Amino acid sequence: MGFILAAVGSAVGLGNIWRFPFQAGAEGGAAFLFVYLGFIALIGFPAILVEFVIGRRTKRNPVGALKELGGDRWKYVGGIFVVTGFVLLSYYSVVAGWFFQYFITGLFEGYTATTPEELGAAFGAASSGTSALLAHAAFMIAVTGIIVAGIRSGIEIAVKVMVPGILFILLGLAAYGAFAIPEASQAYAYYLQPDFSVIAENWQTLLPAAAGQAFFTLSLGMGVMITYASYLGEDRNLAEDAAVIVSLDTFIAVLVGFVVFPFIFQAGADPTEVGPDAIFVSLAQAFATIPGGRLLGVVFFGMVVIAALSSAISILEMLASYLIDEFKWERPKAAAAAGLAVFVLGIPVTIDLVFLDLFDGLADSVLLVLGALLVVLFVGWVIPEDGLDELTTGVENIGSLGSIWLWAVRIPIAIVLVISLYLGATGYLEFLADDFLGWLNG
Ligand code: PFF
Repeated sequence: MGFILAAVGSAVGLGNIWRFPFQAGAEGGAAFLFVYLGFIALIGFPAILVEFVIGRRTKRNPVGALKELGGDRWKYVGGIFVVTGFVLLSYYSVVAGWFFQYFITGLFEGYTATTPEELGAAFGAASSGTSALLAHAAFMIAVTGIIVAGIRSGIEIAVKVMVPGILFILLGLAAYGAFAIPEASQAYAYYLQPDFSVIAENWQTLLPAAAGQAFFTLSLGMGVMITYASYLGEDRNLAEDAAVIVSLDTFIAVLVGFVVFPFIFQAGADPTEVGPDAIFVSLAQAFATIPGGRLLGVVFFGMVVIAALSSAISILEMLASYLIDEFKWERPKAAAAAGLAVFVLGIPVTIDLVFLDLFDGLADSVLLVLGALLVVLFVGWVIPEDGLDELTTGVENIGSLGSIWLWAVRIPIAIVLVISLYLGATGYLEFLADDFLGWLNG
């Protein structure tokens, strides 16, 4: 139970609530949803099992686990995880700080913005400048404090309350959208009716976007699930646990779409133009208009901060355990050093959102997919017997499902990941050459 709670705590976070809706919006709504769900089921689920088998087999941190099973060469993959963790957590914390500010606003002032101008101004104030920096600092202090104090179990209790709470509020908001927003039917059409010609035309951006989002949301590609599975007993059925985690995580993300899109259509905004402000703009508007919205908003934003905390600690734990194991640092020193480094790296994101694209693009389109590809190749080709044996441990009767999993991992999944990585990396290089250089040149 502790494992499922911790893994759900890591998986459910800003990926579901903040990142999913604007990715889906920007990539064509239903077209994205369709490819994304396919990716989760056919690649995310087998890939989470890949990390689980490594973790439970060795009962070690990712670097040690890969070294034990594959020799010295493979420990460098752990180095990629560490780089990914630093980059990802740096902006993750800044975005968590935005949610924290919306929580504080609700607590002390309430939500009043309703027009697109007011909503945009409120988001602008929260997302850059001193308040963004302070919120980022506060969030990293909290994450670091939890890791130093080793009070992860407290977070597991919080996850128990947070997940049902978030689900409950989202269901309520989705129902409100369905009944009270006339534009809801347009929104559902955008979100749910895939136009297959759009998919065929845009697959080169859809595929890496869905891949990156799938790994981001399931906490895959940087060893976090290896770490968590290392605490797992031999009696557990890995596939069953994975199914629970993946379904819950996916359900929450899809539900967020049912909340966000009706409000975007109500505001008359172009769903393909939404960005990282999507959830803030649509929900702040909801909380300003719905009766009891202020209380609902405070509870919702507060719970998202908890969801972000339970994800962030899984990343900082991985970074700290690397420093502890490799450099023999004491836990407090390792956590404080990693937390401070993450904080400093995140500072540019509080100054200009171009750094959000710079970091998120690198972590999501390149590093997570690369990390996932490497562990997939590792289990598929370097330690297939160990992998299969571990997968079937604790399982009564798996039949041929085990070998189907292994062959899926070995060839088709590896190929899709190579293609996703290629497309993601070239897209990122284009962003660097056009947008980022353009920004640098003023
Ligand atoms: N899965 C988390 C979310 O959806 O917010 C983010 C995350 C946590 C990504 C841990 C990667 C990770 F290793």
